[in-house]
Amino acid sequence: MSSERVAVELAKGVNGLDKIILRNTRGSSAEVYLYGGHVTSWKNDHGEELLFVSSKTLFKPPKPIRGGIPLCFPQFSNLGPLESHGFARNKVWSIDTDPPAFPTNSSSKAHIDLILKPSEEDMKIWPHSYEFRLRVALGPGGDLMLTSRIRNTNSDGKPFTFTFAYHTYFSVSDISEVRVEGLETLDYLDNLKNRERFTEQGDAITFEGEVDKIYLGTPTKIAILDHEKKRTFVLRKDGLPDAVVWNPWDKKAKAMSDFGDDEYKHMLCVEAAAIEKPITLKPGEEWRGRLELSAVPSSYCSGQLDPQRVLQGS
Ligand code: BG6
Repeated sequence: MSSERVAVELAKGVNGLDKIILRNTRGSSAEVYLYGGHVTSWKNDHGEELLFVSSKTLFKPPKPIRGGIPLCFPQFSNLGPLESHGFARNKVWSIDTDPPAFPTNSSSKAHIDLILKPSEEDMKIWPHSYEFRLRVALGPGGDLMLTSRIRNTNSDGKPFTFTFAYHTYFSVSDISEVRVEGLETLDYLDNLKNRERFTEQGDAITFEGEVDKIYLGTPTKIAILDHEKKRTFVLRKDGLPDAVVWNPWDKKAKAMSDFGDDEYKHMLCVEAAAIEKPITLKPGEEWRGRLELSAVPSSYCSGQLDPQRVLQGS
Protein backbone atom coordinates (compact mmCIF):
# COMPACT_ATOMS: atom_id res chain seq x y z
CA MET A 1 0.00 0.00 0.00
CA SER A 2 1.23 3.48 -0.80
CA SER A 3 2.34 5.39 2.27
CA GLU A 4 0.84 8.52 0.72
CA ARG A 5 -2.57 9.36 2.15
CA VAL A 6 -5.48 9.32 -0.24
CA ALA A 7 -6.76 12.91 -0.42
CA VAL A 8 -10.31 11.96 -1.39
CA GLU A 9 -11.83 8.58 -0.57
CA LEU A 10 -15.36 7.32 -1.18
CA ALA A 11 -16.53 5.13 1.69
CA LYS A 12 -19.58 3.75 3.43
CA GLY A 13 -20.67 5.50 6.59
CA VAL A 14 -23.26 4.67 9.25
CA ASN A 15 -26.15 2.54 7.91
CA GLY A 16 -24.27 2.09 4.63
CA LEU A 17 -24.77 5.75 3.68
CA ASP A 18 -22.22 7.05 1.18
CA LYS A 19 -19.62 9.41 2.53
CA ILE A 20 -16.47 11.07 1.28
CA ILE A 21 -13.36 11.28 3.43
CA LEU A 22 -10.94 14.15 2.80
CA ARG A 23 -7.41 13.99 4.16
CA ASN A 24 -4.46 16.32 3.94
CA THR A 25 -0.81 15.39 4.16
CA ARG A 26 -0.45 16.49 7.79
CA GLY A 27 -3.20 14.16 8.99
CA SER A 28 -6.24 16.45 9.25
CA SER A 29 -9.44 15.01 7.85
CA ALA A 30 -13.09 15.73 7.14
CA GLU A 31 -16.08 13.60 6.24
CA VAL A 32 -19.06 14.55 4.12
CA TYR A 33 -22.22 12.47 3.71
CA LEU A 34 -24.07 12.57 0.40
CA TYR A 35 -27.18 12.47 2.57
CA GLY A 36 -27.71 16.18 3.22
CA GLY A 37 -24.40 17.24 1.62
CA HIS A 38 -23.61 17.09 5.31
CA VAL A 39 -20.16 17.50 6.86
CA THR A 40 -20.13 15.16 9.86
CA SER A 41 -16.50 15.24 10.91
CA TRP A 42 -13.56 17.61 10.91
CA LYS A 43 -10.44 16.44 12.70
CA ASN A 44 -7.17 18.24 13.32
CA ASP A 45 -3.76 16.68 12.72
CA HIS A 46 -3.86 15.10 16.20
CA GLY A 47 -7.03 13.26 15.19
CA GLU A 48 -9.17 15.34 17.58
CA GLU A 49 -12.78 15.83 16.47
CA LEU A 50 -13.71 19.50 16.18
CA LEU A 51 -17.39 19.15 15.31
CA PHE A 52 -20.13 17.84 17.56
CA VAL A 53 -22.38 15.01 16.36
CA SER A 54 -24.98 13.68 18.78
CA SER A 55 -24.52 10.10 20.00
CA LYS A 56 -28.30 9.77 19.57
CA THR A 57 -28.52 10.70 15.90
CA LEU A 58 -29.63 7.73 13.82
CA PHE A 59 -28.24 8.61 10.37
CA LYS A 60 -31.63 7.48 9.06
CA PRO A 61 -33.27 9.42 6.23
CA PRO A 62 -35.50 11.37 6.13
CA LYS A 63 -34.45 12.69 9.56
CA PRO A 64 -31.54 15.11 9.26
CA ILE A 65 -28.27 14.25 10.97
CA ARG A 66 -28.02 15.98 14.37
CA GLY A 67 -24.63 17.66 14.46
CA GLY A 68 -21.83 18.43 12.03
CA ILE A 69 -22.79 21.06 9.47
CA PRO A 70 -26.39 20.75 8.25
CA LEU A 71 -27.19 23.04 5.31
CA CYS A 72 -30.33 25.11 5.84
CA PHE A 73 -31.83 25.85 2.42
CA PRO A 74 -34.10 27.26 1.05
CA GLN A 75 -35.55 28.27 4.40
CA PHE A 76 -33.97 28.98 7.74
CA SER A 77 -35.95 27.63 10.72
CA ASN A 78 -39.72 28.15 10.37
CA LEU A 79 -39.40 31.46 8.50
CA GLY A 80 -41.67 30.28 5.69
CA PRO A 81 -44.03 27.50 4.64
CA LEU A 82 -41.46 24.70 4.28
CA GLU A 83 -40.25 22.18 6.87
CA SER A 84 -37.90 23.60 9.50
CA HIS A 85 -34.55 24.60 7.95
CA GLY A 86 -35.72 23.61 4.45
CA PHE A 87 -35.08 20.37 2.62
CA ALA A 88 -31.41 20.43 1.50
CA ARG A 89 -30.29 18.69 4.69
CA ASN A 90 -32.43 15.63 4.04
CA LYS A 91 -31.90 15.11 0.33
CA VAL A 92 -29.34 12.77 -1.17
CA TRP A 93 -26.78 14.88 -3.03
CA SER A 94 -24.61 13.71 -5.95
CA ILE A 95 -20.92 14.09 -6.62
CA ASP A 96 -20.45 16.85 -9.17
CA THR A 97 -17.90 15.36 -11.53
CA ASP A 98 -17.67 18.38 -13.79
CA PRO A 99 -18.15 21.53 -11.71
CA PRO A 100 -17.89 24.86 -13.53
CA ALA A 101 -14.62 26.74 -13.03
CA PHE A 102 -14.07 27.41 -9.41
CA PRO A 103 -12.21 30.56 -8.40
CA THR A 104 -10.22 29.52 -5.36
CA ASN A 105 -6.94 30.41 -3.76
CA SER A 106 -6.55 26.97 -2.24
CA SER A 107 -4.47 24.42 -4.06
CA SER A 108 -5.71 21.65 -1.77
CA LYS A 109 -6.20 18.29 -3.42
CA ALA A 110 -8.50 17.32 -0.57
CA HIS A 111 -11.78 18.64 -1.85
CA ILE A 112 -15.07 17.34 -3.15
CA ASP A 113 -17.79 18.98 -5.23
CA LEU A 114 -21.40 17.99 -4.59
CA ILE A 115 -24.57 19.04 -6.33
CA LEU A 116 -28.27 19.08 -5.49
CA LYS A 117 -30.97 19.56 -8.11
CA PRO A 118 -34.70 19.22 -7.52
CA SER A 119 -36.65 16.14 -8.58
CA GLU A 120 -40.18 16.49 -9.96
CA GLU A 121 -41.48 15.52 -6.52
CA ASP A 122 -39.35 18.24 -4.90
CA MET A 123 -40.77 20.83 -7.28
CA LYS A 124 -44.25 20.17 -5.89
CA ILE A 125 -42.99 21.41 -2.53
CA TRP A 126 -40.85 24.31 -3.82
CA PRO A 127 -41.71 25.02 -7.44
CA HIS A 128 -38.29 26.17 -8.59
CA SER A 129 -35.48 24.75 -10.60
CA TYR A 130 -32.02 25.31 -9.14
CA GLU A 131 -28.50 23.95 -8.98
CA PHE A 132 -26.96 24.00 -5.54
CA ARG A 133 -23.23 23.27 -5.75
CA LEU A 134 -21.26 22.67 -2.60
CA ARG A 135 -17.50 22.45 -2.44
CA VAL A 136 -15.97 21.10 0.76
CA ALA A 137 -12.20 21.55 0.93
CA LEU A 138 -9.62 20.75 3.57
CA GLY A 139 -6.71 23.18 3.40
CA PRO A 140 -3.06 22.19 3.84
CA GLY A 141 -3.13 23.62 7.38
CA GLY A 142 -6.32 21.75 8.29
CA ASP A 143 -8.79 24.58 7.67
CA LEU A 144 -12.22 23.49 6.50
CA MET A 145 -13.73 25.52 3.67
CA LEU A 146 -17.30 25.27 2.45
CA THR A 147 -18.49 27.15 -0.60
CA SER A 148 -22.11 27.09 -1.70
CA ARG A 149 -23.12 28.26 -5.15
CA ILE A 150 -26.84 28.41 -5.78
CA ARG A 151 -28.11 29.15 -9.29
CA ASN A 152 -31.64 29.83 -10.46
CA THR A 153 -32.25 27.55 -13.46
CA ASN A 154 -35.98 28.31 -13.79
CA SER A 155 -37.08 28.24 -17.41
CA ASP A 156 -40.35 30.06 -16.65
CA GLY A 157 -38.59 33.39 -16.08
CA LYS A 158 -39.44 33.40 -12.35
CA PRO A 159 -37.09 34.59 -9.63
CA PHE A 160 -36.89 32.74 -6.32
CA THR A 161 -36.06 33.82 -2.82
CA PHE A 162 -34.38 31.86 -0.05
CA THR A 163 -32.71 32.05 3.33
CA PHE A 164 -29.65 30.01 4.19
CA ALA A 165 -27.38 28.84 7.02
CA TYR A 166 -24.35 26.65 7.62
CA HIS A 167 -25.73 25.22 10.86
CA THR A 168 -22.31 24.41 12.34
CA TYR A 169 -22.19 22.40 15.59
CA PHE A 170 -18.80 23.01 17.23
CA SER A 171 -17.48 20.56 19.79
CA VAL A 172 -16.60 22.34 23.03
CA SER A 173 -15.24 21.01 26.31
CA ASP A 174 -17.74 22.76 28.57
CA ILE A 175 -20.25 25.31 27.36
CA SER A 176 -19.91 27.35 30.55
CA GLU A 177 -16.20 27.89 29.76
CA VAL A 178 -16.81 29.16 26.24
CA ARG A 179 -16.94 32.73 24.95
CA VAL A 180 -17.85 34.06 21.54
CA GLU A 181 -16.14 37.21 20.34
CA GLY A 182 -17.14 39.39 17.41
CA LEU A 183 -20.86 39.75 18.15
CA GLU A 184 -20.66 42.35 20.94
CA THR A 185 -22.96 45.39 20.63
CA LEU A 186 -24.73 43.97 17.57
CA ASP A 187 -28.48 43.82 17.10
CA TYR A 188 -30.09 40.40 17.22
CA LEU A 189 -33.48 38.78 16.89
CA ASP A 190 -34.26 36.59 19.87
CA ASN A 191 -35.88 33.35 18.71
CA LEU A 192 -36.94 32.71 22.31
CA LYS A 193 -38.87 36.01 22.40
CA ASN A 194 -40.89 35.97 19.17
CA ARG A 195 -37.87 37.24 17.27
CA GLU A 196 -38.03 40.60 18.98
CA ARG A 197 -35.02 42.81 18.22
CA PHE A 198 -32.47 43.58 20.96
CA THR A 199 -28.93 44.95 21.13
CA GLU A 200 -26.18 42.75 22.58
CA GLN A 201 -24.13 44.10 25.48
CA GLY A 202 -20.49 45.03 25.11
CA ASP A 203 -18.80 41.94 26.51
CA ALA A 204 -18.00 38.71 24.74
CA ILE A 205 -20.91 36.27 24.85
CA THR A 206 -20.90 33.58 27.52
CA PHE A 207 -23.46 30.87 28.26
CA GLU A 208 -25.50 30.06 31.32
CA GLY A 209 -28.84 29.02 29.80
CA GLU A 210 -30.68 28.42 26.55
CA VAL A 211 -29.64 30.76 23.71
CA ASP A 212 -31.24 31.07 20.28
CA LYS A 213 -30.37 34.40 18.65
CA ILE A 214 -29.95 35.67 15.12
CA TYR A 215 -27.21 38.33 15.13
CA LEU A 216 -27.57 40.79 12.28
CA GLY A 217 -24.94 42.45 10.11
CA THR A 218 -22.10 40.50 11.72
CA PRO A 219 -18.38 40.91 10.92
CA THR A 220 -16.73 38.49 8.50
CA LYS A 221 -14.77 36.99 11.38
CA ILE A 222 -16.10 35.49 14.62
CA ALA A 223 -14.12 33.61 17.27
CA ILE A 224 -15.20 30.89 19.70
CA LEU A 225 -12.79 30.55 22.59
CA ASP A 226 -12.79 27.25 24.43
CA HIS A 227 -10.96 28.16 27.59
CA GLU A 228 -10.69 24.62 28.98
CA LYS A 229 -9.47 23.07 25.70
CA LYS A 230 -7.20 26.04 25.04
CA ARG A 231 -8.58 26.09 21.54
CA THR A 232 -10.03 28.91 19.46
CA PHE A 233 -12.27 28.34 16.48
CA VAL A 234 -12.18 31.13 13.96
CA LEU A 235 -15.04 31.46 11.46
CA ARG A 236 -14.47 33.54 8.38
CA LYS A 237 -17.44 34.06 6.13
CA ASP A 238 -18.41 35.78 2.96
CA GLY A 239 -21.89 36.49 1.58
CA LEU A 240 -23.37 35.55 4.93
CA PRO A 241 -24.18 38.67 6.94
CA ASP A 242 -25.99 37.03 9.85
CA ALA A 243 -24.87 34.60 12.56
CA VAL A 244 -27.14 32.37 14.62
CA VAL A 245 -25.98 31.32 18.06
CA TRP A 246 -27.82 28.32 19.49
CA ASN A 247 -27.53 26.08 22.51
CA PRO A 248 -30.69 24.22 23.57
CA TRP A 249 -29.61 23.83 27.22
CA ASP A 250 -31.09 21.15 29.48
CA LYS A 251 -34.88 21.30 28.98
CA LYS A 252 -34.86 21.50 25.17
CA ALA A 253 -32.10 18.86 25.08
CA LYS A 254 -34.37 16.45 26.95
CA ALA A 255 -37.21 17.19 24.52
CA MET A 256 -35.13 16.26 21.44
CA SER A 257 -35.21 12.53 20.69
CA ASP A 258 -31.97 12.67 18.68
CA PHE A 259 -29.93 14.56 21.27
CA GLY A 260 -28.49 13.29 24.58
CA ASP A 261 -29.76 14.92 27.77
CA ASP A 262 -26.33 16.27 28.74
CA GLU A 263 -24.88 16.82 25.29
CA TYR A 264 -25.74 20.53 25.33
CA LYS A 265 -22.70 20.97 27.58
CA HIS A 266 -20.37 19.90 24.79
CA MET A 267 -21.69 21.74 21.75
CA LEU A 268 -22.33 25.22 20.47
CA CYS A 269 -23.89 26.20 17.16
CA VAL A 270 -22.57 29.36 15.54
CA GLU A 271 -24.20 29.46 12.14
CA ALA A 272 -23.04 31.71 9.30
CA ALA A 273 -26.29 32.70 7.63
CA ALA A 274 -28.31 34.94 5.32
CA ILE A 275 -31.65 35.37 7.07
CA GLU A 276 -32.71 38.96 7.70
CA LYS A 277 -32.39 39.93 4.04
CA PRO A 278 -33.45 36.88 2.01
CA ILE A 279 -31.56 36.29 -1.23
CA THR A 280 -33.48 36.70 -4.49
CA LEU A 281 -32.10 35.25 -7.73
CA LYS A 282 -33.44 35.81 -11.21
CA PRO A 283 -33.07 32.99 -13.75
CA GLY A 284 -29.39 32.61 -14.63
CA GLU A 285 -28.19 34.40 -11.48
CA GLU A 286 -25.95 32.71 -8.94
CA TRP A 287 -25.37 33.39 -5.25
CA ARG A 288 -22.28 32.39 -3.36
CA GLY A 289 -21.81 31.90 0.38
CA ARG A 290 -18.50 30.84 1.83
CA LEU A 291 -17.47 29.63 5.26
CA GLU A 292 -13.93 28.97 6.38
CA LEU A 293 -13.24 27.34 9.73
CA SER A 294 -9.94 27.07 11.50
CA ALA A 295 -9.07 25.74 14.92
CA VAL A 296 -6.00 27.18 16.55
CA PRO A 297 -4.44 26.21 19.85
CA SER A 298 -4.77 29.16 22.16
CA SER A 299 -3.12 30.02 25.38
CA TYR A 300 -5.45 32.97 25.75
CA CYS A 301 -6.84 33.43 29.19
CA SER A 302 -10.44 34.46 29.08
CA GLY A 303 -10.62 38.08 27.98
CA GLN A 304 -7.23 38.28 26.33
CA LEU A 305 -8.45 38.00 22.78
CA ASP A 306 -9.29 41.55 21.97
CA PRO A 307 -12.57 41.67 19.98
CA GLN A 308 -11.14 44.47 17.84
CA ARG A 309 -8.29 42.21 16.83
CA VAL A 310 -10.75 39.45 16.01
CA LEU A 311 -12.65 41.83 13.78
CA GLN A 312 -9.71 43.51 12.11
CA GLY A 313 -6.88 41.01 12.28
CA SER A 314 -5.96 38.71 9.45
C1 BG6 B 1 -31.27 26.68 15.17
C2 BG6 B 1 -32.53 27.48 15.43
O1 BG6 B 1 -30.65 27.18 14.04
O2 BG6 B 1 -31.61 25.32 14.94
C3 BG6 B 1 -33.28 26.85 16.59
O3 BG6 B 1 -32.19 28.82 15.68
C4 BG6 B 1 -33.56 25.40 16.34
O4 BG6 B 1 -34.50 27.57 16.79
C5 BG6 B 1 -32.25 24.69 16.03
O5 BG6 B 1 -34.17 24.82 17.48
C6 BG6 B 1 -32.39 23.20 15.72
O6 BG6 B 1 -33.27 23.00 14.69
P1 BG6 B 1 -33.62 21.55 14.20
O7 BG6 B 1 -34.71 21.70 13.16
O8 BG6 B 1 -32.38 20.94 13.63
O9 BG6 B 1 -34.10 20.79 15.42
